[in-house]
Amino acid sequence: MALLDILTYPDPRLKQVSQPVQVFDDALRAFVADLEETMRAGPGGVGIAAPQVGRFERIVIVDISAMRKLPKGSSNSGRLLLINPEITEWEGMVMGREGCMSVPDYTGNVIRAEKISFTACDEFGASREYCCEGFEARAVQHEVDHLDGMLFLDRLVSRRSDLFRRKVYKKKDEK
Ligand code: NI
Repeated sequence: MALLDILTYPDPRLKQVSQPVQVFDDALRAFVADLEETMRAGPGGVGIAAPQVGRFERIVIVDISAMRKLPKGSSNSGRLLLINPEITEWEGMVMGREGCMSVPDYTGNVIRAEKISFTACDEFGASREYCCEGFEARAVQHEVDHLDGMLFLDRLVSRRSDLFRRKVYKKKDEK
């Protein structure tokens, strides 16, 4: 396995629309293992999408169970590998804080559906239906956005009031 390099904003490749996976073979599964390792190595890595490592295929992984404190009211499905995901139902709207491995210096407040239903394939091409809510639903929507070339930055109502610099990553010479 290998850690993959993460593209960071404003790399124009993050705006590229990813293509559906058509071949479910060992090479795909090896890539998924690398993608997951890369997600787990990242700070607060609860989700990752293939285009973030420069592979423009519709593959995302979400796993919020690694969070120190699981947000209240959130479903927790453990590891979700979602290939060719399609969100089919959206319910409710809620504002919440998001970060992204491709936007390491900021977090932002984004409005998302509270509850979603979606379908996706596993690494062998078998399709399944899912329901998620709360923070897990937010993470899935965030990652699926990457497949369409969207970052959370594109969904902020106002950069002035909804974008926050991360303190954790502040450089030593900053106050
Ligand atoms: Ni992201």
